[in-house]
Amino acid sequence: MQEDKKMLILFGSPHGNGHTRELLESFLTPFRKQEHWKITGYSAYRSPVKPCIGCRVCARKEGCIYDDFNEIDKSLRESDLLVVASPVYQFSFPAPLKAVLDRTQRYFEARFSLNIVPPIAKHREAVLLLTMGSEEAFGAEVASYQLKRAFTVMNTSLKDCIVWQATDAPNQNGEEAKRLAAEAARRYW
Ligand SMILES: Cc1cc2nc3c(=O)[nH]c(=O)nc-3n(C[C@H](O)[C@H](O)[C@H](O)COP(=O)(O)O)c2cc1C
Repeated sequence: MQEDKKMLILFGSPHGNGHTRELLESFLTPFRKQEHWKITGYSAYRSPVKPCIGCRVCARKEGCIYDDFNEIDKSLRESDLLVVASPVYQFSFPAPLKAVLDRTQRYFEARFSLNIVPPIAKHREAVLLLTMGSEEAFGAEVASYQLKRAFTVMNTSLKDCIVWQATDAPNQNGEEAKRLAAEAARRYW
């Protein structure tokens, strides 16, 4: 019997069946055969969190003035693997997913204002799955840089970044990106 493992998915596409979902499914398919993996999904468009208002309440006491991030916080703390699956919008994450990222400021304040080290007790690895209409790699660089910086106070290490480029061009079926996603999945069993 293998020990239970938990995966949290942060899904940033407004499309339930778009390119991002397709790439995510390539990553998830091998996991579905692994019964010891429990998968929790969060869709930033379906269940949007409020944007951070920079009130700094989290600098005085662990937590947030808003309670709509609490379930993500709980799942994140319990997770062994974090998967961020998103399209690139304006060289970054779509606004609802960026709002989730901004709400992780509570961990930054926990670390540097409240001196809680580490702000999240358990370590996890993370995978970034991106789709983008163009071949302009800068969007993927920005997105992975943003995550890496946020992860420094989340006890989280970004291990893989898989990008399906040029989704807006005709006949882009993303075979290579999907193959890489399936291959990456095997590294986390
Ligand atoms: C508002 C908006 C902004 C976008 N910005 C970019 C961008 O900066 N760079 C890029 O390569 N593609 C950009 N795209 C294209 C999407 O990243 C691409 O179509 C993506 O594969 C869509 O994923 P989905 O099918 O899951 O919705 C943008 C699309 C939208 C709707």
